[in-house]
Amino acid sequence: MKENRGPIGIFDSGYGGLTILTSIRRLMPEYDYLYLGDNARAPYGNRSFEIVYEFTLQSVKKLFDMGCQLVILGCNTASAKALRSIQQNDLPNIDPTRRVLGVIRPTVEMIGDITKSRHVGIVATRGTIDSQSYLLEINKLFPDITVSGIACPMWVPLIENNEFESDGADYFVKKYIYALMEKDSKIDSIILGCTHYPLLIDKIRKYTPANIELITQGNFVAKSLKDYFIRHADMEERCTKGGATTFLTTESVEKFKESAAVFIKDTKIDVESIILK
Ligand code: DGL
Repeated sequence: MKENRGPIGIFDSGYGGLTILTSIRRLMPEYDYLYLGDNARAPYGNRSFEIVYEFTLQSVKKLFDMGCQLVILGCNTASAKALRSIQQNDLPNIDPTRRVLGVIRPTVEMIGDITKSRHVGIVATRGTIDSQSYLLEINKLFPDITVSGIACPMWVPLIENNEFESDGADYFVKKYIYALMEKDSKIDSIILGCTHYPLLIDKIRKYTPANIELITQGNFVAKSLKDYFIRHADMEERCTKGGATTFLTTESVEKFKESAAVFIKDTKIDVESIILK
């Protein structure tokens, strides 16, 4: 019989989920983690619903095959476009005892305590914005909050190509932040609704009025996972505790090591290249 214990799986289209991994590991260093970046097919941001769903499902299945009992989609685009279908349609057939969680809900749950003006901005990929997931989820929990979103299709490519500190990045950060402020000048908090965006935070800060709070997701997702384990002791017991982190990528090992080092500076990167289908 297959052992029903394993590392916590964390998935992203590329390197962005490493910002989520970092926060989770900081809060809960005792667990084992298995990170999967579908780097060869990133970015997902402009891809159709069907393709994001298909690619995400392949990744989740791979992480399950590697023993993960719990997978976090460390990607807003996948959380917006694939999470619900996987939870409702696929998990019952694959293994009803395993779990897949996303990053949108933990972020949304916190926003009610953060905004005073009750006007919130979202910057995210086109896929996340078009899905309206943030708008729908925020309005479900906090109907008094006005939500304005802007798609920032150039930001992930800048980050994936290690250009996020360049002058070119300034141009695109300014462009999208100004467009968001033009949509709603009463915004007092902006959710960075893409796990890549923390790498651009210095530039985003530069073009955002000083009174506006910039909200990154990592700590909220980590705290929400910790709470989840308190409520689901059975799942917590199925996550192994050895303090090890390993990585899977659909790109080459060398390329992953070089690029991932920008996101996680203090970690030895033990990575294997895989093919998803
Ligand atoms: N990091 C992913 C997110 O949070 C997106 C990246 C992509 O476009 O692939 O949405």
